[in-house]
Amino acid sequence: MRGLVVLATLACFASAQHQALIDYLERRLLAIEDRISLWQEQTARYASELRELKQQMVAQLESLDKEKESLRGSLDSVGTRVDRVERELDYLETQNGAQPCVDVDDKLIEQQVTVVMEKQKTKYFKLSDCSDMISNIKAMKILKRVGGQKGVWSKDSSSSSSSTDDGKVYIFNGTDGNTVHEFSSLQDFARSPGLSQSKALKLPSSWRGTGHVIYNHHAYYIHQAEEITVNKYDLTDNSVTDVAVFPVQDHVPVYGLNTETVMDLAVDEEGLWAIYATQQNERHISLAKMDTSSLDIEQMWDTNCPRENAEAAFVICGTLYVVYNTMQPGRSRVQCVFDVNDMVTTEDAPLVYFPKRYGAHSSLKYNPKEQLLYAWDDGYQILYKLSMKKKLEI
Ligand SMILES: *[C@@H]1O[C@H](CO)[C@@H](O)[C@H](O)[C@H]1NC(C)=O
Repeated sequence: MRGLVVLATLACFASAQHQALIDYLERRLLAIEDRISLWQEQTARYASELRELKQQMVAQLESLDKEKESLRGSLDSVGTRVDRVERELDYLETQNGAQPCVDVDDKLIEQQVTVVMEKQKTKYFKLSDCSDMISNIKAMKILKRVGGQKGVWSKDSSSSSSSTDDGKVYIFNGTDGNTVHEFSSLQDFARSPGLSQSKALKLPSSWRGTGHVIYNHHAYYIHQAEEITVNKYDLTDNSVTDVAVFPVQDHVPVYGLNTETVMDLAVDEEGLWAIYATQQNERHISLAKMDTSSLDIEQMWDTNCPRENAEAAFVICGTLYVVYNTMQPGRSRVQCVFDVNDMVTTEDAPLVYFPKRYGAHSSLKYNPKEQLLYAWDDGYQILYKLSMKKKLEI
């Protein structure tokens, strides 16, 4: 009986051992299954991430392709713009004779601008030290009434102050003739009863209009035949020094209100100027700088100053001042300004009114040494004293 119990116990023991082994194996299998499912999950995740990445890559490649296209397009348009700029530069170069500069950055442009400005400055200051512009008419003196309604009078605008002839006064009476009247001084002229007490100088050819000037012991007078000539006449030895045809065709009278004056001459600190007009630029006044000794034209400008209602003009420090009035003479005023150095425009020049006289100027001659205007107003010889200011108020 005891043997049976032992056997049963052994069998029980063996089956219990067997069970434990099975349990252990089952646990291991479960753990392995867990890990496998974990791996599967992870692999699936990796796979989907990879798919997403691939889709993103494809999308980015597509957008890169598009960007490449648009870049190519804008490169093409930049190319055509560069072509156009190059053509424009070529054109400007032929207009100005300047060096083309295609490959410039902003700094270079800045440098060039300052260089150009510096050049202009030195050119300007080489031309003349004067930088004055008219600010007002300070005073007026009616000196006399001699001669006709129209005419010119002025003192010799001499560049040399050592001469004893400096004070001489000259008169062109009327709008044509061949005589110029000389007085030894302003006092002499003021005291004389008329023109008969003057020294009458007969010129070798006739003059026309009121465009004449006296400068450095020479009379520069306008003669009109088939062509317009500027005649230079030596007043100290009574001889013709030079005659020059003014190299412009189709002249028209320069001032709308003084049609006898086909061309006007002016003297300023920088020398001799011609104020004229042509059919080609019929509505506006043109300006030319002349060499006082050779009568050569040094430079010409078309101004923006209209001829209509202009009665006279004068030049101060390279700036042309055009004086306007009305058909029924009213108050004369400077209403257009043209500066050859581009430092003064009509906008920043003061509107200068002449004193109220209801007259009409047939000529206004500036004397740079005295800063006076010698005016002929309806037969009266008038002096205007000018006050000046600096062109550049820095
Ligand atoms: C001055 O010119 C006017 C015409 O413009 C003339 O009538 C007058 O006689 C002239 N006077 C002299 C003194 O020549």
